[in-house]
Amino acid sequence: MRIAIFGAGGLVGSHAARFFRSRGHTAIAIGRSGAMDIVADATDSAAVQKALAKAKPDAIINAIKCRMPTDAAETAKNEAWLSNVVAAENIAAASCKAGARLVHISSAWVYEGKEGESYNEESITYPLNFYAYTKAVAEERVLHHAPNALVLRSDCVFGEDPHLADFFSRLKTACKKGEKFPAAQGQFSQPIFAGEIARLSEALLASKASGIFNCVGPDYLSRHSLAITMCGLFGFDKSVVAPAPHSARAIRVPLFLRLDISKINSVCKVKSLDAQLSDLKQGAS
Ligand SMILES: NC(=O)c1ccc[n+]([C@@H]2O[C@H](COP(=O)([O-])OP(=O)(O)OC[C@H]3O[C@@H](n4cnc5c(N)ncnc54)[C@H](OP(=O)(O)O)[C@@H]3O)[C@@H](O)[C@H]2O)c1
Repeated sequence: MRIAIFGAGGLVGSHAARFFRSRGHTAIAIGRSGAMDIVADATDSAAVQKALAKAKPDAIINAIKCRMPTDAAETAKNEAWLSNVVAAENIAAASCKAGARLVHISSAWVYEGKEGESYNEESITYPLNFYAYTKAVAEERVLHHAPNALVLRSDCVFGEDPHLADFFSRLKTACKKGEKFPAAQGQFSQPIFAGEIARLSEALLASKASGIFNCVGPDYLSRHSLAITMCGLFGFDKSVVAPAPHSARAIRVPLFLRLDISKINSVCKVKSLDAQLSDLKQGAS
């Protein structure tokens, strides 16, 4: 299969490109900077159409998000809107014209994440901050333009981002330098390896499924516990991991994101956290 990957220079996109190539597919990396097969700013609809005319994909992954910490989106609203909503809409509209199936990566932050609640794909969305709001609006617009798209709601994605801005790379760097790594004890989620999102995308595309899927791991734990678990497996010094209060953040975030993953499991069983960490360690994708 030929698969065009928007945002191929980021965490999810770079792992997707590696995974699909390792599976014998032709992955065409599309981005606005870095070593890309095709350079395009996805906020420009003509540039997106031109890129797809060149790539001739059977399927597309949109792994674009505004390149800034989520807290910063609260003030840099225009930039966040352009990358998270306008680009998503352009890619969805162009995917139909190109006759290619679309996997749109979204966020589980569209849910409120209230203690004691569990969220399935039918649950009411309740974005708590501007970044989450852009992700919720993008989902609606993507499904309006491309009703057969796959929309994957992910959370706490780990892997190795080329910019070293992700959770795992920052932990690794802090351990190397012996610097404190603050990790929230009161923020819970179901972490997922970026390579696992790619593996699930391949299975979903093969199944001809469409619509919204919760796409997170099966294990529910705090950011702090995740950092400690990673230290144990990768031989990092656990003493650098410092408990951090989530209240230090500039924005409200969902704190208890417990997601029902039975829908995605019915297509392809999501691997356990241990198995996903082991894939990361082995450089599986
Ligand atoms: N990381 C997580 O924990 C997490 C959690 C839940 C959901 N997600 C979702 O997963 C997806 C990918 O996130 P990520 O963490 O992989 O993001 P990332 O590492 O920040 O990468 C985002 C990529 O998007 C590109 N981009 C931004 N605006 C663009 C534009 N206008 N045109 C073309 N490319 C553009 C960036 O390119 P430049 O380098 O040129 O800026 C970058 O390569 C997003 O939908 C995000 O919401 C991520």
